[in-house]
Amino acid sequence: MIHSRLGLADADSDAELLHRVIEILSAGLDLDGVVQRVADLITETTSTDVCFVHLLDEPRGRLQLRGATPPFDQFARRIEVPVGDGVSGWVAAHCEPAVITDNKRADPRYLYIPELRGEDFTSMASVPIITRPGDLVGVLNVHTRDRREFTKADVELLSMVAGLMAGAIENASLQSKLAEREEAMERFAEQIVLLGETERRRLAGEIHDGISQRIVSLSFHLSAAADAVAACDPPSAAEQIARAQELAAGALDETRHAIAGLRPPVLDDLGLAASLESLARSIPLPNVAVDTVMTDLPEHAETAIYRIAQEALQNVTKHARAAHVQLRLSVAPGAVVLEISDDGVGFDPATTTKRAGPVGYGLPGMQQRAELLGGQLTADSAPGRGTVLRLRVPVAPENYPKH
Ligand SMILES: Nc1ncnc2c1ncn2[C@@H]1O[C@H](COP(=O)(O)OP(=O)(O)OP(=O)(O)O)[C@@H](O)[C@H]1O
Ligand SMILES: [Mg+2]
Repeated sequence: MIHSRLGLADADSDAELLHRVIEILSAGLDLDGVVQRVADLITETTSTDVCFVHLLDEPRGRLQLRGATPPFDQFARRIEVPVGDGVSGWVAAHCEPAVITDNKRADPRYLYIPELRGEDFTSMASVPIITRPGDLVGVLNVHTRDRREFTKADVELLSMVAGLMAGAIENASLQSKLAEREEAMERFAEQIVLLGETERRRLAGEIHDGISQRIVSLSFHLSAAADAVAACDPPSAAEQIARAQELAAGALDETRHAIAGLRPPVLDDLGLAASLESLARSIPLPNVAVDTVMTDLPEHAETAIYRIAQEALQNVTKHARAAHVQLRLSVAPGAVVLEISDDGVGFDPATTTKRAGPVGYGLPGMQQRAELLGGQLTADSAPGRGTVLRLRVPVAPENYPKH
């Protein structure tokens, strides 16, 4: 047993605690293993009774319990608080430690979570887990049954443990992002093949049923016109030629339509900003506000953004029953941002985004297109609260907007 300063003031035991943390970090465990072992170690080696490690889920702005002294380890991944709520949420939001010596319930920051049995513990110390570049990745808490005054030195020691863990947590989260990205790429490769097949079938269908049928009839009318010319019957020849012209125009339309399915020709004609404006104005809703800037993105990024906007606007038309719709294409540092918001019925994204679909269809398709651009797509919505769909696509500096 190490008698750390959290129990007894002793610099050697502090060093030993930190040494044991480093041993855990270098043991090649996965993130959950590291977090759990550090929580166990802190409880074993200091005179605190429980340790909780909450990790930040940045996109969702929530802290999730990931490591805890038994029996609370059973709640790992099952307890979450929004950043800003409770003592841990306060520590995360302010990036500074918090100490409560007694009467937690009187502290306005305190949030009672029944599973964690706050009533059994009197004093607590909570420190942010911050990486060297200064990014918050979680919060580390210790609690004691008996009342105790956590000293400045105690908080410093906890912050040092947190600092050591921070790098490992960040590495693990980068690894898992990388793995997700790889998985998305694999899924995409499969779906590209599928999409290619679907596109080929669609084109074959359009050529077979529409274009070639019209050309067959066209050639029939031309033969009839030739016969009429041979029979010196100009009115009938003229009529057959007129029919042939109609069919030629129809075949041309269908050809354009088939090609438009591949890359929206409007992008080449107008550029992304104007194409999005025209797309937004074409939806059958009365109050559509559009606000775009000129961008100079690679073609594939333009196509993806256009397709995402198209699907998002279709969703607004089909599902939202909105009074107002807004499409914005703007520039943030290093990124182009597309935002489509409506004040319609809204939905619960957590229960609707799981469905896997082929590329190009629905929310999952939009998500995949976004991932492939290295971008992020978020749907911010709740029943009765409208929807904001936000796509952020990173751009190289040379792709910044032209003024
Ligand atoms: N702007 C919105 N307002 C309200 N509900 C929406 C909105 N966008 C999406 N939804 C809800 O999310 C669900 C999933 O959307 P998604 O685009 O994936 O599928 P879909 O539109 O139903 O079908 P598909 O796009 O494949 O034709 C929709 O069925 C709808 O309930
Ligand atoms: Mg849809």
